[in-house]
Amino acid sequence: PLAATGDLVARAAAAHTAVAAFNVITLEHVEAVVTGAEQAGAPVVVQVSENAVKYRGGRLLPLARAARAAAEQARVPVALHLDHVQSDDLLRQAPAAGFGSVMYDASRLPYARNLAATRAAVDWAHAQGLWIEAELGRIGGKDRPDGRAGTAERTPDAHSPEARTDPDEARAFVAASGVDALAVAVGSTHAMTTRTARLDQDLVARLATAAGVPLVLHGSSGVPDRDLAEAAARGIAKVNVGTALNRAMTEAVRDFLAAHPDAVDPRRYLDGARQAMARTVEHFLRVLGVPGVP
Ligand code: G3H
Ligand code: ZN
Repeated sequence: PLAATGDLVARAAAAHTAVAAFNVITLEHVEAVVTGAEQAGAPVVVQVSENAVKYRGGRLLPLARAARAAAEQARVPVALHLDHVQSDDLLRQAPAAGFGSVMYDASRLPYARNLAATRAAVDWAHAQGLWIEAELGRIGGKDRPDGRAGTAERTPDAHSPEARTDPDEARAFVAASGVDALAVAVGSTHAMTTRTARLDQDLVARLATAAGVPLVLHGSSGVPDRDLAEAAARGIAKVNVGTALNRAMTEAVRDFLAAHPDAVDPRRYLDGARQAMARTVEHFLRVLGVPGVP
């Protein structure tokens, strides 16, 4: 059934674990996230990013409607979240499109402007009954031209893996903005295709104390399993995963087409891709711990 992101995050935080949130691009992603969560017997968040909406020609509803239908029919709780929203126009479409939560991303702005923009977004979101996450500190890798982190064209002011959220700033930012959860820079980077990120676990614990709200880890595809579990124990309550699904999908398609160069019907390669994504979803959920299963 359809669930509320805030409830899933609160429950995970109380159990010192994290709910996993997966970014979806195609209908196959949506189906795989629900199937993987059912296989693990765990609740899950399906999230649609502003970049995914751009890929769909700026249209939010086709993917949102599919995700909503899949959530309502799922055998586990599934929440719908709008991710990395920079556009006020997109933000305002969230409630009517069926989203119960949003991540408003003004992290590209200097502190004072990030705070002012986030504060306005929080006021609006709360008036709509939406749960809202924002970002402080800059988590690297998101707007790489080729979608990959750590490449040569990195500019000095780009989000970098060295960026860190300051605990004192986090405390002030949460108090002044009223956000429900805070995305923090603690060593992960978006779009990593190897799981080699090193998290600053002491900083995670200090930020959890300072912020006083659940913390969100972005760029979790690049974080090793044991580090994800430890970060969850220290105060990360929502773990965002995108690239790991895309890797699973693309590798399955590439392997299938290499073995079957004459294949034409997309169902032949998308079925295996969808299964590979579902296995990836199940893996992340089991790493984080399924509620009720020690
Ligand atoms: O908001 C989305 C996540 O931070 C996904 O990051 O693609 O590196 O796993 P990732
Ligand atoms: Zn992210």
